[in-house]
Amino acid sequence: MKIIIDTPEKVAEMAAQRYVELLKEKPDAILGGATGSTPLLLYAELARLNKAGEVSFAKAKSFNLDEYVGLDGTHDQSYRYFMDKNLFEHIDIDMANTRVPSGINTEIAAEYDKEIEAAGGIDMQLLGIGNNGHIGFNEPGTPFGSITHVVELTESTRQANARFFESIDEVPTHAVTMGIKTVMNAKKVILIATGKAKAPIVREFIKGAVTEEVPASVLQLHPDVEVFLDHEAASLL
Ligand code: GLP
Repeated sequence: MKIIIDTPEKVAEMAAQRYVELLKEKPDAILGGATGSTPLLLYAELARLNKAGEVSFAKAKSFNLDEYVGLDGTHDQSYRYFMDKNLFEHIDIDMANTRVPSGINTEIAAEYDKEIEAAGGIDMQLLGIGNNGHIGFNEPGTPFGSITHVVELTESTRQANARFFESIDEVPTHAVTMGIKTVMNAKKVILIATGKAKAPIVREFIKGAVTEEVPASVLQLHPDVEVFLDHEAASLL
């Protein structure tokens, strides 16, 4: 695991360069996308680089990590909506090549893995991390062998995400997420964590035991992971 520590802005710039490098080498790369507040600076930088002609997503395909059960893509808190507004509408990607798991047709969740495989597998998966160590919506206790599946969100995750909704009651109770195995199948993983609140979990997933109780700790077993941290998130390392 390679750890890179800098300011949030520099971290976003460096992570964006990974996309530039990958897409230069493989214009039709398969990208794994993430939501949350953490990737916003990175997505803004990708949009800037795309407009400046330094990177093109015209041939790329994208598969997002997760979606809330019950929200369709027109809901402003759905992850499909988030991706459209914060990234896809600002870059030259073909919308037909952007995939987010369906929060409505959840009975076909496992087919997402087959689709990813049929596309050739994810070349680079972007991740954030939840305060409890979740990646995607894989909450503590998720089997490392899991593929895309429906999960019940923990109370702490619903509380953490309530800030985006009008009240906690509106936060969905379930989500569909790529599994741990789906994420581990990616050829390369980049994880970004910023802010003081993430410092304890950052220390735990990097330095602690590899355990299903800390989903992100599985990344210690992946051959190509880069972790981008700002100084606050890295402060307990
Ligand atoms: C959400 C998402 C995760 C994300 C995490 C952290 O629940 N499902 O993919 O990494 O929370 O979000 P943030 O970046 O806003 O801290």
